[in-house]
Amino acid sequence: MHNAHMIIEQSPELRGQAQLVGAKNAVLVIMASLLLTRGKSILHNVPCSNDVLHMVALLQDLGAQVSFFQHEHRLEIDTTGVIGYKVKPEVMKRMRASVLVMGPLLARFGKADIALPGGCVIGTRPIDYHLRNFEKMGVEVTTKGDFISAHVRQFISAKLVLDYPSVGATENLLMAASLAPGITRIINAALEPEVLDLIAVLKKMGAKIEILPPATIQVEGVNQLKPIEHEVVVDRLEAGALLLAAAITGGDISIINARADTLDVLLMKLEEMGHLIYVNKNGIGIRLHATKMPRAVSFKTAPYPGFPTDLQAPMMALQCVASGTSIIEETVFENRLLHVRELQKMGAQIQVEHNKAVVTGVEELYGAQVIATDIRASCALLLAGLVAKGETIMTGLHHFKRGYEALDVKLMNLGAQLVINDTQEDMHSTADQPQKITEI
Ligand code: UD1
Repeated sequence: MHNAHMIIEQSPELRGQAQLVGAKNAVLVIMASLLLTRGKSILHNVPCSNDVLHMVALLQDLGAQVSFFQHEHRLEIDTTGVIGYKVKPEVMKRMRASVLVMGPLLARFGKADIALPGGCVIGTRPIDYHLRNFEKMGVEVTTKGDFISAHVRQFISAKLVLDYPSVGATENLLMAASLAPGITRIINAALEPEVLDLIAVLKKMGAKIEILPPATIQVEGVNQLKPIEHEVVVDRLEAGALLLAAAITGGDISIINARADTLDVLLMKLEEMGHLIYVNKNGIGIRLHATKMPRAVSFKTAPYPGFPTDLQAPMMALQCVASGTSIIEETVFENRLLHVRELQKMGAQIQVEHNKAVVTGVEELYGAQVIATDIRASCALLLAGLVAKGETIMTGLHHFKRGYEALDVKLMNLGAQLVINDTQEDMHSTADQPQKITEI
């Protein structure tokens, strides 16, 4: 095996305590939002996942000064020297979230030249909602092949109606609107906890934003936004991954800083499977005591507060070894069932029809060589590997590294038997992070 890979052994019941870092999906957009300001901002609770490092490189390329104190999870970004509005394609294409600099660049410089973003292969992932609504705000957008060039003719007050509550489009439009003259209303907006964290940041900067029920965000543009200090919201997807790992191994773990209000549907489904869930009175801190006889449950992904698409693959791993049949419907991304084939290699009984997977629980999975096709698929295969008989070898590790800072280490601390073999330069295990201040 020459590629970087993770070897996962059948593991004992996971036990102990874990603590979450900040959400990757919140920190990436918050980092982009700092382009709206001029000066030094400080972010706390920042995970050191590869996507965060990609966004650091992107901001540096635009002229920002960045210091990342990885061990302290503190990121300091000074945007005083940002003068560029052009993002190099090689920097842009490393991840999908790069597109989130478009709104801030348009608002601060009146221009943005970007390439179409890269990212996971979980669907065609167009950015038409972003572009169409920028146009409604008074932006002229020209697309040539893979390149987009946009400039502000004149920002105008606009009522923007999203076809679907897209997280990225809501965030991009919200950031542009915060610094654009006039009033912008985003209707059918996404209200994921990570969007709410961005709103909290923009308000600290001085933005005037109101959420109007049921799902409208109203923004009154201001002339200037100031740098901020902020602690990033904890990662509900990392919380989900840890809870699911405890559940699949029949273990008992507590996550001391998990926020139950961001995981309602997952927790309800875990209880329906027979697992016991305890939440601290203040809603922060979740314990899962797993049943040894889990029942299969059906679920359907949906925008927040529905079942998160990012937990669909990991939750599917649990259904593979639960008693009964589970029907899983993926409604957010059209191509997010690529992990099915890999789970089948491990002995899972799954039939796919369009966006639906019908999983019939089996007594046992067995170790196999599997390939992670996206961030959350890597988590699903890891979880399946924890209960599979023998050794599971997972490649496609760069996806795992993009999404999680040290999930491997946290799982090992709870008793999971796994090891990462890095053979490529950009594959340093997060377990090996130097314990000193690292500046990049
Ligand atoms: C974000 C998250 C990702 C999560 C997803 C849905 C980040 C960095 N990533 O991705 O982890 O899985 O939300 O919760 O925060 N769509 C269009 N046109 C557009 C935009 C979106 O058709 O212009 C479609 C997408 O193809 C998809 C759906 O809308 O089918 C939802 O996508 P969206 O919410 O925008 O996801 P992202 O912001 O890319």
